[in-house]
Amino acid sequence: MKLPIIPSKMALKNKRIFLRVDWNVPMIGGSAEDSLKLTRSIKTVQALAKRKAVILVATHLGRPKKRDPKLSTKQLAHLVLIRYGVDLVFLGEDLSTIGGRTSALKIINAAKPGSIFLLENVRFYQGEEKNTLKLAKAFASLADIFVNDAFASSHRAHASVVGVAKVLPHYAGPTLVEEVRALEKLLMKPKRPYVAVIGGAKLSTKLPVLKTFLSIADVVCVGGAMAHPFFVAQKKRIGKSYIEKEGIPLARKLLKNPKLRLPVDAVVATKIAPGVHVRATAIDGLKQTEAIGDIGPETMRAWAQEIKRAKTIVWNGPLGVADIPAFSHGSLLVARVIAARSKGPAYGVVGGGDTLPIVLATGMSEWFDHISTGGGAMVEFIATKGKLPGLVVLERTQLKHH
Ligand code: 3PG
Repeated sequence: MKLPIIPSKMALKNKRIFLRVDWNVPMIGGSAEDSLKLTRSIKTVQALAKRKAVILVATHLGRPKKRDPKLSTKQLAHLVLIRYGVDLVFLGEDLSTIGGRTSALKIINAAKPGSIFLLENVRFYQGEEKNTLKLAKAFASLADIFVNDAFASSHRAHASVVGVAKVLPHYAGPTLVEEVRALEKLLMKPKRPYVAVIGGAKLSTKLPVLKTFLSIADVVCVGGAMAHPFFVAQKKRIGKSYIEKEGIPLARKLLKNPKLRLPVDAVVATKIAPGVHVRATAIDGLKQTEAIGDIGPETMRAWAQEIKRAKTIVWNGPLGVADIPAFSHGSLLVARVIAARSKGPAYGVVGGGDTLPIVLATGMSEWFDHISTGGGAMVEFIATKGKLPGLVVLERTQLKHH
C-alpha cells in the first residue's frame, strides 16, 4: 500500500495541520490500550511541533449521539499534560457554526509556531459519522494540511477521517504507517507455517476476518464464545454457555475446513463470575448446568504446540472471559507463547481492544513484533486486505495534491 508520508524536507513552519488521532481511550483506570494509543501518537504530535507546525489535534471519544460534557476531549488535554508533559490548548469552539470557526481561526492564526490545540470531540457533530461534506469543509477551513495518524479509526468513513482528506492535501502519520506496514506482513508473503488465533464473542462479526485467515493462514485456532456455534453445529451440548444463534448456520459451513482448530476442552463453571468453583472438562463432558468460561488445558497444550511451530503468528480476541482471573489462563498462555516466539523465530502480531489488556497483563509487550492499537480496524484491515476507507482515501487521491 502506497501511503503519502510527510516529506522530511517539507517546510512545516506555521503550516496548520488538522491531525486526526485516535485517543478514544477509557478515561479512568489507565488500561492497557489507552496508554498505547496515546504514547504512540503523542510522538507524532511532538515531532510536528518540533517542525514548528501549528497542530490541531482531533479525535473522537466514546460514541456520543450529541454534545455530552462527560465525553468532552477537554479531559484528554489534562491527561496528556500529566502523563506526557505535553501542553495542549483545548479549543472548545463549535466548528459547525460560522461564529465558532471564526473565533477558532482567530486563535489559531495568532498562535506561535509549534502550538498544539486539541479540538472538541468530533462525534459531537451530526455530520461526523454521516461524513457530510459540510463538516469536512468546516474542519478543513481551519488547516492547510490533513494528517491521519489514527489507524484505529481508519475503518470509519467519517468526516474527520475520510471527508477532510478529500478536501485538503493529506498525508499518513508515522503511527498509521507503522501499523499498516506491520499488518501488511500478515497479508503479503507471510512466512510459513502461519498460525492465526481468533477469539471473541460473536461469530457473525468475526466471520469476514475468520474467512480471510482460513484462506491465508495454515492453521486457524478459534476460541471464546465464537467457538460455541461450532460446538452446536457438531451436535455437542454446551449447557448454559452463551450462544449466538445466527452463528450456527455459519459455523456449519466452515466446520469441515481442515485448517480450523476448535477447543477440545474447556474451563467451566455453573456461573461465569469471579470466585466461583471451576473445573476442566472435555467439551463432550459439559453438564447442562455449566457454562464455558475459557479454553481447557488440553486445548492450551495443542495450540501452544501449533504456535511454537509457526513462523507467522497473529492473535485477536480473548479466548475466554479474560477479565475474570479463573477464565483468563487460555488468553494469557497464548499471549505468552506468542511473545516468546516473536522477534526471533516467528513474526508475532497481536491486537484488539479486549486483547490488549491481556497482552499488557503478561508484562511482555516489548517481546511482540507488533501490538496493534486497532480493534475493529485491525480486524477489518485483515478481512478487507487493507482496504480501509481512511487508508484508501489517502492512497487514491494523493496525486491531486502533489
Ligand atoms: C476503537 O476503539 O476501536 C476505535 O477508537 C473506534 O471506535 P468506534 O468503534 O466507536 O468507532
